[in-house]
Amino acid sequence: MTIKENINDKRITTSKELKNDSAFDLTLRPKSLKEFIGQQKIKENLKIFMSAAQGRKEPIEHVLLYGPPGLGKTTLAHIIAKEMDVNIRVTSGPALERSGDLAAILTNLENGDILFIDEIHRLNKIIEEILYPAMEEYALDIVIGKGPSARTLRLDLPRFTIVGATTKISLLSSPLRDRFGNIYHLNFYQDNEIGEIIKRAAKILKIETAPNAINQIASRARKTPRIANRLLKRVRDYVQVKADGKISEELTSQALSALDIDEFGLDEIDRKILETIITKFSGGPVGLNTIAAATGEEMATIEDVYEPFLMQIGMLKRTAKGRVATENAYQHLGLTDVKNPGKLL
Ligand SMILES: Nc1ncnc2c1ncn2[C@@H]1O[C@H](COP(=O)(O)OP(=O)(O)OP(=O)(O)O)[C@@H](O)[C@H]1O
Ligand SMILES: [Mg+2]
Repeated sequence: MTIKENINDKRITTSKELKNDSAFDLTLRPKSLKEFIGQQKIKENLKIFMSAAQGRKEPIEHVLLYGPPGLGKTTLAHIIAKEMDVNIRVTSGPALERSGDLAAILTNLENGDILFIDEIHRLNKIIEEILYPAMEEYALDIVIGKGPSARTLRLDLPRFTIVGATTKISLLSSPLRDRFGNIYHLNFYQDNEIGEIIKRAAKILKIETAPNAINQIASRARKTPRIANRLLKRVRDYVQVKADGKISEELTSQALSALDIDEFGLDEIDRKILETIITKFSGGPVGLNTIAAATGEEMATIEDVYEPFLMQIGMLKRTAKGRVATENAYQHLGLTDVKNPGKLL
């Protein structure tokens, strides 16, 4: 990809993983709880329950991690395995299609091993029902034969731990959710934590960065580590081409405006969503499907990627009747309050 295409990539601010993130993510992924920045409460709880399990020489209880994309769910799953000094086997809801696949994975685990199931809200019903006794009683029920002569055989499984991750906890069935002893909600990061994450990444990548440049990148990273790392990488590319490679405040500003990210970290699509609600639907309330149709964006993307952040920074509200743009949104976009024409908020 050329630098120009890079800069013009409108999806730079998506918190979802992009194709060329993965190698980068791997280098920058913290390997221990100590290196994992922010999410203080989760870290404290994890430390306690991991050392308690180690003290009892038992595997840890099943863990469910949920929250918007790019906040560190996969990273934490690997850290838990590392800190517990056990193997981790990685799969995902959509990948576990047939009961045989799951049976093969479960019977190959060793005591204490972690089975990481990403996008766990996408498991199908049959697989989910096999998981219930597996999670609760460490047993696998296999049906042999068909019709009246069919019988069930129960196999003992090792004492393993499931770490599940999801961006959509509401889609998890309650019997599945109830089987997790530990449920953690990852929240958006504070700007200073994002600053720490960028500093750490700059050090690993050996990029010289002015402190103010770090603050600028941090303030536009949508409180999301994945985006912070990606922005740092884009700014580095820009600076490499335009100057000597050292990231200054001025060059960061230029690079970020070339990427069309405003001072709140909003990109063109965020602004389009807010503008549509305000100008076409008098600020709302308006349904998600109507917003999707009017903006030409997918409903799932709006719901998973854009909305959580717009709500977090107080520009959008979810109400029983639909989405509503807040006064902050009017102000930020410099739009007249359409409910009170002539009044500029
Ligand atoms: N607390 C943190 N400290 C430092 N870096 C972090 C932290 N959390 C995440 N990162 C960085 O952000 C990247 C993305 O995190 P991760 O892949 O764990 O997100 P995720 O929550 O699993 O996202 P998704 O929902 O898309 O699967 C990591 O590779 C890592 O470089
Ligand atoms: Mg992940």
